[in-house]
Amino acid sequence: MAETGTDIQKAKALLESGELVAIPTETVYGLAGNALNNLAIAKIFEVKDRPAFDPLIIHVPDLLRASRYVQEIPEDARKLAKAFWPGPLTLVLPKRPVIPDLVSAGLDTVGIRCPNHILTRGLLEIIDFPLAAPSANPFGYVSPTTASHVNDQLGDKIAYILDGGSCKVGIESTIIGFDGHSPVIYRMGGLSLEEIEDVVGKVRVEQHTSSNPKAPGQLKSHYAPSKKIIAGNIDELLRTHRSKSVGVISFQKKYDLPFHVVLSPTGSLSEAARNLFSALRTLDKMPVDLIVTEWVPDNGIGRAINDRLRRASH
Ligand code: TXA
Ligand code: MG
Repeated sequence: MAETGTDIQKAKALLESGELVAIPTETVYGLAGNALNNLAIAKIFEVKDRPAFDPLIIHVPDLLRASRYVQEIPEDARKLAKAFWPGPLTLVLPKRPVIPDLVSAGLDTVGIRCPNHILTRGLLEIIDFPLAAPSANPFGYVSPTTASHVNDQLGDKIAYILDGGSCKVGIESTIIGFDGHSPVIYRMGGLSLEEIEDVVGKVRVEQHTSSNPKAPGQLKSHYAPSKKIIAGNIDELLRTHRSKSVGVISFQKKYDLPFHVVLSPTGSLSEAARNLFSALRTLDKMPVDLIVTEWVPDNGIGRAINDRLRRASH
């Protein structure tokens, strides 16, 4: 078990000496290290068992600090940062040489974001380097949304967990890159397409696969619990798999079953997003052979939920 607490001075000291600290953000918990220290970066890849071709994003306290690490900020990137930082938005921009190639996995761009969580903002304000932080889970598994999720899987491998309670958004940041100066969404996340288009007009969404070199980490199978998961019509799936012990994750409807989580009894997509990863972890631990779930309405943050369900069930 890692030591867990809310001491940002302790987190600072550990990070300065090259250790890793799990940090809370509004999206999911991150596994953080000094982004300018190659040894710390190498540790992140090792602890997560993450392939070296999958780049890390860096975290900064504000736009001014971001500009130290990138070559240029296109007009639309600036507009988006002004509208949504601190918040669940990662911008992929041409990096400056000060960002190690290990962070960007050899790409000439770096993903950068300003997280919205009071503890982590406090920490970012008192250190003089950016924090590289992927989600604090073993590669390919469901992202953690509480300190105890982090402890369950990485507790014996990291020095300290900053405990900031449960994540308010619950799903990873939306990632936006630029084709020339036009924004392109690489990953649907906590910031919705509608919110983005309100600021910069129509944007392109790129289908992410493992063969897309711009978003190397966007594998088809990801965010996956170890149990098999199938998404579709829950009633039909329950009939088809009658002979098995089945766990159910529904959007709104209550089922009279022993292994069951409702994501949002009131049908709120943001509540469903907040509960999704916990639900996957909970059912993964139960004595079920199979998890069945259903798609949620495909608008707002619902698109990001469906994306995670698609990849968890791939
Ligand atoms: O909400 C989040 O973004 C969380 C919290 C901790 O900030 N972080 C997170 O990091 O989800 P990670 O590493 O689990 O996912 C970041 C994704 C990866 O799929 C990676 O491949 C992609 O961002 N990425 C990073 N740098 C990139 C770049 N330069 N170009 C394209 N994709 C990039
Ligand atoms: Mg991740």
